[in-house]
Amino acid sequence: MKDKNAPVGVFDSGIGGLTVAREIMRQTPNEKIIYFGDTARVPYGSKSKETVTRYSRQIVRFLQTQQVKAIVVACNTASAYALDEIEKETDIPMIGVVKPGAKTAVETTANGQIGVIGTEGTISSGIYSRYIQEINPEIKVTGKACPLFTPLVEEGLWQDPVTDEIARRYLEELIDIGIDTLILGCTHYPLIRSTVGRIMGDQVTLVNPAYETARELKELLEARDLQNDEEPHLGEDRYRFYVSDAANKFKRFANSIIKYGILSARIINIEEY
Ligand code: DGL
Repeated sequence: MKDKNAPVGVFDSGIGGLTVAREIMRQTPNEKIIYFGDTARVPYGSKSKETVTRYSRQIVRFLQTQQVKAIVVACNTASAYALDEIEKETDIPMIGVVKPGAKTAVETTANGQIGVIGTEGTISSGIYSRYIQEINPEIKVTGKACPLFTPLVEEGLWQDPVTDEIARRYLEELIDIGIDTLILGCTHYPLIRSTVGRIMGDQVTLVNPAYETARELKELLEARDLQNDEEPHLGEDRYRFYVSDAANKFKRFANSIIKYGILSARIINIEEY
């Protein structure tokens, strides 16, 4: 029997998964979170399936030591490459970001033309197309890897002519196809949502899997009677952050997107798990 008041584990290759953690904080404010960002080994987007699976397995082992009651794989690449395997290895309920995003995109599209942008790993895995076509085989899915978006976001160039220019080049092809729905299939992309939205135009709806994933987590906790029913205690360390490197940089970034005042991020040696 799992402890209802145990934390939810959330992990990502680095800082990007904070966009998912932020949504979980908004939608389920009673839940405690243990976040792990693999800042020593980021990016996952250009690595092989085997490597990303090995990394993800180590992180799950670490989260198990924190007695988490559920795990959110808040990284598209890890969801694409590793989730199927790692979820079989534990009895902790696990959700990724891909399925919720795919489901919402299917509900959103009117013309049956969906675009997906993400890392090279996520796009080449074809996972979004697979999930979408499982729901509706008539829908056409076009993927576009946008590898430069991640470093641009990490450099803080969220609103910058350089990001505009690169986004225009990446997105041109999707505009020409006439998609009406675009999945932001990488944790970093919600942070450049306004740039992407402006370039795609009003006729294209952007789907942010972070939002849908938090909603799915809420449903999962409700279905299993695992919602935290304790009121937050004053001064309680509700959200705890762990990284594999560069804790100060992580903390700065986290504080720029999460408004809860992240006071510390502890470094752990993830290779030990
Ligand atoms: N978190 C990754 C994802 O959502 C993006 C950064 C990386 O390549 O590790 O796919």
